[in-house]
Amino acid sequence: MSLSPGHRNAGRPGEGRRILLGISAGIAAYKSAHLARLLKQAGHEVRVVMTEGAQAFITPLTLQALTGEPVRTSLLDPEAEAGMGHIELARWADLILVAPATADLMARLAHGHADDLLTTLCLASDAEKVMAPAMNQAMWRQPATVRNAHRLAEDGWRLLGPDSGDQACGDVGPGRMLEPEAILAALDDTAPREAAGLTVVITAGPTREPLDPVRYLSNHSSGKMGFALAAAAAALGARVLLISGPVALPTPAGVERHDVESAREMHDAAHRLARGCDLFIGCAAVADYRAETPAEHKLKKREGEHTLTLRLVKNPDIIASIAARDDRPYVVGFAAETRDLEAYARDKLARKGLDMVVANDVSRAGLGFGADDNAALLVWRDADGTDQRSLPPQPKSQLALAVVRQALARLRAAAPP
Ligand code: PMT
Repeated sequence: MSLSPGHRNAGRPGEGRRILLGISAGIAAYKSAHLARLLKQAGHEVRVVMTEGAQAFITPLTLQALTGEPVRTSLLDPEAEAGMGHIELARWADLILVAPATADLMARLAHGHADDLLTTLCLASDAEKVMAPAMNQAMWRQPATVRNAHRLAEDGWRLLGPDSGDQACGDVGPGRMLEPEAILAALDDTAPREAAGLTVVITAGPTREPLDPVRYLSNHSSGKMGFALAAAAAALGARVLLISGPVALPTPAGVERHDVESAREMHDAAHRLARGCDLFIGCAAVADYRAETPAEHKLKKREGEHTLTLRLVKNPDIIASIAARDDRPYVVGFAAETRDLEAYARDKLARKGLDMVVANDVSRAGLGFGADDNAALLVWRDADGTDQRSLPPQPKSQLALAVVRQALARLRAAAPP
C-alpha cells in the first residue's frame, strides 16, 4: 500500500519522530501502554490521545506516567486547548499511529468524521498515518469493515495487521492487534523501507485436486503462514502478489491477491506473476499428486466392492520450476517436516535448486498447520557453502517478518554490486 504523497513530514532520518499515539476503545488498549514505552525507548517523542471509550480499558494516568506528557482525551477541554490546541497538535505530529483501531473508529475515519479529538486530529493532520486494527474476528470479516479498510488504505493509511489467533472474547481468528514489537518494527523507517521497490510473489494455503465434481484431495494448510509473509513483505514496502489456494482469510492490506484452486492453476499463476519479480516465497502446501482423470460425474459406491482405487499422477513442482527459470528471482521454499529438520531442509535446498529453505516441524503441538504460532530453521546457501538460523516459537506475524528480513538480507548479499 502506498502512503499518500502529501505528508508534511516524512520523518527525520536518524532522529526520533514525533508520534501521536491514538488509543481507541478495545481490550487491546492494554498493549498500548507497552507500545508507548517501546516507542519512547526507540527515541521517539510520544503524545497520547485517547477516545472516551478507551479510558474504560486503560487510564490516561498510566500513559502519562509512561510518556511523561499529559494525555489528551477531549476536544472541548479549554485547559488542554490553552496548552497545545488541537490544530497545533495535529501539526506537531510526524506520524499518527492509532493502536488499537476499533471497527467503529475505522468506520468514522473512513467517512471523514471529526466527532471527537482523535478523529479531528486525524482529519486535521498531514502526517503519515498508520493504524493497527483490533476487533472481534466476525467484525473484521464484515463487508463494511473490509470496505472501510480498503478505503482507508486508498486514503493513504498504512494498516498493520491484524494478527490472527485467540481473542479476548474467546473467539479464534483474525482481529487481534499486532504485538507492540511488530508494530515498532514495521514503523522503523528512519532508513528507507527495506523492501521498497521490490516485487515479492508468495504462494499460500493448500491446493485442491478434484476427484469428481464434489470431492477433492487437499491438506490442512490454513494459509496463515503465507498470509503473514505477505503482510510482512507489504509492511516492509514491497509490492506483494499473493497466490492463494482456497482459504478463509481476508487479504492483508496493500497486497494483490490471486486465488487459485489446483496445483496446476497455482503453477500457471506463479509463472505468470514471477516474471520480473525479485523474491519468490513458496509457502503453499501444494498437493504432490492429483487424480489422473477426475470423474465427470459423482463417483458412486459400488455394491459388494470394499475398496476404491484412485490413479494419481504427479503435479508439477512449482518452486523447483521457478528456481529453474533463466530469469529466476531469489527463491525461498518451505519444508514441512516431522523429523530431521536440518537434513531434509538441506536436501530440499539442493534438490529443488532453492536459495533458502524455511523448515518447520509440523508435528509439534500448537505450531505449523492451522496454528497461530510457528518456529522454523532457516537454511541458505552462500559463497562459503550453507548457513542457518533458528527461529523459536512465536506468532506467525513475527516469524514472517524475520523470514522476509532474512531473505532480503541474503538477496542483497547475492546481488552483484
Ligand atoms: O498454512 P498454515 O496453516 O499457516 O501452515 C503453514 C505450513 C505448515 C503449510 C507452511 O509453514 C509450510 O510448511 N508450507 C510448505 C508445505 C509443504 O508442502 O512442504 P513440502 O515440504 O511438501 O514442500 C516443499 C516446498 O516445495 C514448499 O515450498 C512447497 O510450496 C513447494 N512445492 C511442493 C510441491 C509442489 N508440487 N510444488 C511446490 O512448489
